Amino acid sequence: MQPLVLVVTVLAMAAVFAVFAWAALASPRAVDPARAERWRAGTIVALAVGGIVLALATLVPWPHTPQAGPPQGIVVNARGHQWYWEFDRDTVPAGTPVTFLATTADVTHGFGVADPEGRLLFQVQVIPGYVTRVAWTFDRPGTYRIVCLEYCGLAHHEMLAGLSVEPGA
Ligand code: CUA
Repeated sequence: MQPLVLVVTVLAMAAVFAVFAWAALASPRAVDPARAERWRAGTIVALAVGGIVLALATLVPWPHTPQAGPPQGIVVNARGHQWYWEFDRDTVPAGTPVTFLATTADVTHGFGVADPEGRLLFQVQVIPGYVTRVAWTFDRPGTYRIVCLEYCGLAHHEMLAGLSVEPGA
């Protein structure tokens, strides 16, 4: 997904540059105001529709869906502290749903999980007094990284942990 986002970003930057270059080159010429207005309206509609389509297309699959009922699969209880993570287990099998129940002992933290290559899979906030629930099925083994993605004080950057995903049964 990230290479696609990079390509789309570069193309969008090139399009913005092209519009500015065109505007700079065209500005000395007389422009029919009615025609410019139609062009502007058409551009706004095209950008809005394109943006909505792009947002929907790149949000599938939705990272995590709201859930009701009892937690699915294996439950991992996570608790954030300034500045470390506490877990009741740090090993889960691949291919089995894992439900994280995440909370915090002190301030708000961000509970993010990245794959072995460092790509972020999902992240949720953990808030004092609440248990944030997120389910994920790890599709392959490896050492995944738990990172705090909410600035939570001086040693925020050290708030890292590992999650070992082992081959499924
Ligand atoms: Cu915990 Cu940043």
